[in-house]
Amino acid sequence: MSRPSVFVTRPLPVEAVERIAAECNVTMHLEDERLPFEQLVAACHEVDALVASGTQVSAELLEHAPHLRVVSTVGVGYDNIDVAACTRRKILVTHTPGVVTEATADLCFTLLLAVARRIVEANSYVHGGHWKHWQWGNMWGTNPSGKTLGIYGFGRIGQAVARRARGFSMRIIYHSKDLPSPEQERELGAQFVDRETLLRESDFLSLHVPLAPETHHLIGSPEFALMKSTAFLINTSRGKVVEEAALIAALKSKRIAGAGLDVFEFEPQVHPDLLAMPNVVVSPHMGTATRETRLAMAMKTAENLLAALAGRRPPNLVNTELWQD
Ligand code: 8YV
Repeated sequence: MSRPSVFVTRPLPVEAVERIAAECNVTMHLEDERLPFEQLVAACHEVDALVASGTQVSAELLEHAPHLRVVSTVGVGYDNIDVAACTRRKILVTHTPGVVTEATADLCFTLLLAVARRIVEANSYVHGGHWKHWQWGNMWGTNPSGKTLGIYGFGRIGQAVARRARGFSMRIIYHSKDLPSPEQERELGAQFVDRETLLRESDFLSLHVPLAPETHHLIGSPEFALMKSTAFLINTSRGKVVEEAALIAALKSKRIAGAGLDVFEFEPQVHPDLLAMPNVVVSPHMGTATRETRLAMAMKTAENLLAALAGRRPPNLVNTELWQD
């Protein structure tokens, strides 16, 4: 039997490439940038499997990939894939949950502490040579301890954020479709609340929902109107979950106190108004960007892909309806 051919849309760690290459013919785009659609089409024409790393896999692309059987995406979120179109074509879609959890929760907490303690502003202040003498009234922030952390979406990452918040003596409330068991809830010290209570009572509101039609603009003007004027929004999920124009308006009018953002509605473009605000800390969609996590994601991507190509159920199948045991 001939070896399956695989196209990888961005450089992956060598360990993962070697793992795939042991069983498949691999072609890899060697630049760490999004491939133009025409090049993607040309690369997908003959392949059996695609490793999609931050790559849009649209129904239109699938039309140009008649042999495609597997799309293995590098990440837990799969909003970049038209899963319904893949399912219609009986193409298996896989992703990488689990391995991204701790790094993403760490970045979330980094942003939370950074906005609470104004660490980016403080850094610029010292680097800029503005620190002439110690002042009692300088750089006052806010304590996370004793404050309420509202977690919107209580899956793996939301729960990992709750574990960190316990160490900071925060009160933890959450609203979610995924409900933990009563034991997990007790262990995490978290309390389920309705959506309105979450918005009204959070001092820090952190988003951990996947992007889907029902979560697009989940947070907009009506939600900001319910929040405390002292509250901070933390987003490490997907940019389009927040209506960015409404966020900017809420920040400008001091409806909320600040934001820590790793993701943006139109990324990689970040609205200049956000960049001009000292109470907004930003990072370039890097929740999983640690050596250990990116390697684990790449290896999981390889395992999913190889299982699917070998006719075994991939460990992290998205369109489970395609699999009958
Ligand atoms: C990826 C992510 O970098 O896991 C996710 O959902 O957002 C990131 O880890 C992104 O999906 C690009 O591959």
